[in-house]
Amino acid sequence: MSVRVVTLPGDGIGPEVTVQAVAVLRVAAASADIDVLVEEHLIGGHAIDEAGTPLPAESLAAAKAADAVLLGAVGGPKWDHLSGDQRTGAGLLGLRAALEVFANLRPVRVHPRLVEHTVLRPDVVRGVDLVVVRELTGGAYYGQPRHRDETTAVDTIAYSRAEIERVARVAFTLATERRGRLTSVDKANVLMTSELWRQTVSTMAAEYPTVSLDHALVDSFAMHLVTHPRDLDVVVTENMFGDILSDESAVLAGSLGMLPSASLGASGPGLYEPIHGTAPEIAGQDRANPYGAILSVALLFRHSLQRPQVAAAIEAAVESCIDNGVLTADIGGSASTSAAGAAVVAALPARRAAAGVTS
Ligand code: IPM
Ligand code: MG
Repeated sequence: MSVRVVTLPGDGIGPEVTVQAVAVLRVAAASADIDVLVEEHLIGGHAIDEAGTPLPAESLAAAKAADAVLLGAVGGPKWDHLSGDQRTGAGLLGLRAALEVFANLRPVRVHPRLVEHTVLRPDVVRGVDLVVVRELTGGAYYGQPRHRDETTAVDTIAYSRAEIERVARVAFTLATERRGRLTSVDKANVLMTSELWRQTVSTMAAEYPTVSLDHALVDSFAMHLVTHPRDLDVVVTENMFGDILSDESAVLAGSLGMLPSASLGASGPGLYEPIHGTAPEIAGQDRANPYGAILSVALLFRHSLQRPQVAAAIEAAVESCIDNGVLTADIGGSASTSAAGAAVVAALPARRAAAGVTS
């Protein structure tokens, strides 16, 4: 099998974590007899500097033609003054829309070694294993009208039943494969879109008799997420709530740098990225945590290449690195980005076998 992966390293720490992710991708692919062709393209601030737009047509065409896309991060102080379609984030939003990746999976697990590192009480976070399924191509991020003048600005939250159904279907299905619990998060006591959201998800529940569904309002859910996170299995929610809640859930895992994501559509390439942050203050210093980017490669093998065993091997390799104390600064250690990436590569079964390690 031969696959094409387009990388969009982007800005800030994006390039340095992507280098490590690509190294893991290559070794893991070789061990599974997959030929991988990696092609790098511009996005975000770098694309603005070099091509005058945050999502050059070339990058978009390459991404659409790929089997999977691996993204680093976009944005930074240098481009903060830009507005509207010139914003670095607009490149990412344009890419998500063009690839029609409407379901964004953000799994959150707490490694036992990092339990003591989180700012929350260990008994609250120990054993957390949840997935946020964020709707990614609708809602406030894309709704029209959307404009701004000197004194007024308008954003619109719009959802159709079909848009809600397709992302809810991903979440229900995931719940059947996991612990059978789905929490749908909305603001149905205020928003019309949330009324439709709740009604649509409720109606679908009959099709999934093994899933127990409950609904939560986003404000109290935000509290629940950090007070009783172990209750949660799969969480499904609209674009903006999912953005906020997934950063909040990163607190459970110990660092934003730990969390991977997969953005999937009905067909076409999946988009894989750490859940975000360009961390400009440490960019270029070889200090960023590459594990979120590397775990995104695991998701790439699972969802785009249908190789769950390779995915599991990468996840196990990251776990063993953490077990062995290979920790970057954000998770309480002093390992460099490149040392952490090299440690994952060394812990992959292919490398261990080559080195004669048998257990
Ligand atoms: C994320 C990020 C993006 C988003 C930004 C960079 C546009 O915060 O992937 O969560 O809001 O979706
Ligand atoms: Mg975000």
